[in-house]
Amino acid sequence: MKIFIDSANIEEIREINELGFLAGVTTNPSLVAKENGDFHQMVRKICDIVNGPVNAEPLGVTFDEMIAEGQALASLHPNIVVKIPMCEDGLKAISYLARQGIRTNATLVFSANQALLAARAGASYISPFVGRIDDIGNDGLHVLTEIMMILDQYAVEAEVIAASIRHPMHVTEAAKIGSHIATVPYKVIKAMIKHPLTDLGIARFVEDGRKLQGL
Ligand code: G3P
Repeated sequence: MKIFIDSANIEEIREINELGFLAGVTTNPSLVAKENGDFHQMVRKICDIVNGPVNAEPLGVTFDEMIAEGQALASLHPNIVVKIPMCEDGLKAISYLARQGIRTNATLVFSANQALLAARAGASYISPFVGRIDDIGNDGLHVLTEIMMILDQYAVEAEVIAASIRHPMHVTEAAKIGSHIATVPYKVIKAMIKHPLTDLGIARFVEDGRKLQGL
């Protein structure tokens, strides 16, 4: 499973990219709104840092707005993927942009049927929001499992991005289910790196290493 970062914060993206495992970035209007600066410039900067798909979402939600903004975003850099919300106008926009060779990520996906329709409309990526499904008392990982089963069964080319990841176990479970990608917030990536036994082990090796050197 590839790891994307779910962030529009340049420092977070730069720091995590330096660790060597980062395969892409997802942003959304809420993440962008937390940062200062021009949206398109921010997206360009992210593309300069990370060598992989950078997902950016149009701010309008009508078909005309999504295709106009989608085309403008796609023209910023070859790595841009246009995020399109799952709705009727969104499906039309996904299929229109796909015909123009622009890659899209169907976002705000909460069911297997939505995933199937978005994939068939031509989305390159499908983003089920695992955490938000859990938030309303349903099982986000179960929905992810259904989506993987269905898309695998028909060899649909779209890649699935487990999104709305809230904690490290979401990442482990998404990987076990076979999600192609998980997009993970900065805090959760940091928690994935840490283990108390690793810290203890490093401290002991350092101590014993100093003894070996007679220090
Ligand atoms: O990028 C979309 C998604 O990951 C949002 O997550 O935490 O706002 O539900 P969240």
